[in-house]
Amino acid sequence: MRQKIVAGNWKMNLDLAEGKELLLSIIDGQINEGTTAIVIPPFIHLNSFKQMLSHTKIALGAQNCHQQDSGAFTGEVSAAMLKSVGVEYVVLGHSERREYFMEDSLSLSFKVTKVIEKGLRPIYCCGETLAQRQEGEHFEIIRAQVKNGLFHLNEMELLNCVVAYEPVWAIGTGETASPAQAQEIHAFIRKTIATEYGDMVAENISILYGGSVKPNNAEELFNCPDIDGGLVGGAALDANSFIAICNSF
Ligand code: PGA
Repeated sequence: MRQKIVAGNWKMNLDLAEGKELLLSIIDGQINEGTTAIVIPPFIHLNSFKQMLSHTKIALGAQNCHQQDSGAFTGEVSAAMLKSVGVEYVVLGHSERREYFMEDSLSLSFKVTKVIEKGLRPIYCCGETLAQRQEGEHFEIIRAQVKNGLFHLNEMELLNCVVAYEPVWAIGTGETASPAQAQEIHAFIRKTIATEYGDMVAENISILYGGSVKPNNAEELFNCPDIDGGLVGGAALDANSFIAICNSF
């Protein structure tokens, strides 16, 4: 059975007091057994959140990290530092990082390696822009992102990764990929992995959908055979919405 995951990416939202309030409401909610819920706040909240989460099953994630262990990299945070405050997952290659911070799949492959080396799990994002989809390039773009970011790993390492398909045109726009569009790409990603690593690995990797996931569309998306959960942005900033999405399997 593949792990069912709902990860809430808070992006650069909420100060510490606001963040704690939201987290307390999430902790107070009832998340069904069998769903791994991950809260992914800004770096500065991670340490106090870990303490707040200590008696819960909710996992903690970070939105990025640097590929080196330490050194003169002003403004950066290493995977080892994240590990030291109890982080378990690290989002890598979110389209906002690719677009605004010039990250590409090759540079991300070094971060992926470092995150795994530290015993953390990458949530590796891929997805096409609207122009790329309109040109019919989306399959090739996604294949290249997955291959260049992840295929240097061995089987066991890859099994530690979570993949997130996030069509850029659906992020924060209110426009969701239809379940059929999302399922088509998820099946394609799984096939791409199977071709390189075999069916056992491909069948056991969780592939999340991201892009305007809301309580009213989550169930239909999560019912698709190759969609194992969601990477949620806007709706993760509301406790009721996030909990409802977590319970949409
Ligand atoms: P959204 O963001 O749910 O607000 O579209 C998703 C994401 O960026 O991960």
